[in-house]
Amino acid sequence: MEYTKTEHKAIDNIHQWVGNFGFFPGSVGHGTAQYLYHLVLETKPELVVEIGCYLGFSTLHLAKGLRENDRGRLVSFDLKTGWASCTIHEAGLSDHVEFVQGYSDVMSRAYLTHSGQKIDILFVDGDHTSRGCVRDFNTLHGHMRNGGYVIFHDIYPKMCGWKGPRLVLDCLKAAKRPLAQFDIRERTDLDPFGVAVCRMISPGRNPLVACSWMRKMDLWVKTSKVMKLIELMIFEAKLPASHRNFLRRMGTLSKEIFHSRILPKL
Ligand SMILES: C[S@@+](CC[C@H](N)C(=O)[O-])C[C@H]1O[C@@H](n2cnc3c(N)ncnc32)[C@H](O)[C@@H]1O
Repeated sequence: MEYTKTEHKAIDNIHQWVGNFGFFPGSVGHGTAQYLYHLVLETKPELVVEIGCYLGFSTLHLAKGLRENDRGRLVSFDLKTGWASCTIHEAGLSDHVEFVQGYSDVMSRAYLTHSGQKIDILFVDGDHTSRGCVRDFNTLHGHMRNGGYVIFHDIYPKMCGWKGPRLVLDCLKAAKRPLAQFDIRERTDLDPFGVAVCRMISPGRNPLVACSWMRKMDLWVKTSKVMKLIELMIFEAKLPASHRNFLRRMGTLSKEIFHSRILPKL
């Protein structure tokens, strides 16, 4: 995969923001980024949805594929879209990407209900807690095109510290007909945190909603507010101080966005 001059410049910018470690902390690795690019080239999607753009590294690769196809668009949801839109602007890919700032479940529900378009590729890399990941999947499952792809990043809790993507993945794996069926491949070769490629092979009810009572109870406990808080605290405790401060700033920011943009003005 060859980068254009402007794409190189955009990637250099990211290096300046976060340092040059050979990878970008908090972003997908190079293997996953290239996989996303090739998936877009192969499947020629009309609509790609990304949950979590952060600095725009994965966004850049999805959008690069769309530009080379000369069709389709990417809608990317995040609590903060400033860095990623700067990256995409720098890379000259702005014509292919639309950023929507705010909580992904709230904003994507509003966006997709309004547009009515089906998703060909959904890349889930936003709120990695069980509660967040289940909410995102529940919101977007009904908007998937049959034959479309759902890609989860960070599927190995021991490596990444998050439990959400694994929880959703295990529910999809356990689903029996007539619930929606996915052909699931776990890719260990792309990225140490793991990537799951889930292709919808037969449509049906959402396996996370229409599951047995036992599984529903289990999901309910795992996705409670208290469990989310515990997951976040455990994750934060494992991080170095600089990352903890960053997360706290993001937390404050997300509350501000929620109050200023999502709650109705009284
Ligand atoms: C792991 S980073 C995404 C990295 C990006 N996909 C990449 O590889 O370049 C996760 C992102 O999800 C965003 N996020 C976390 N919770 C969210 C929520 N509830 N709604 C929207 N975005 C959220 C964070 O702001 C962060 O930018």
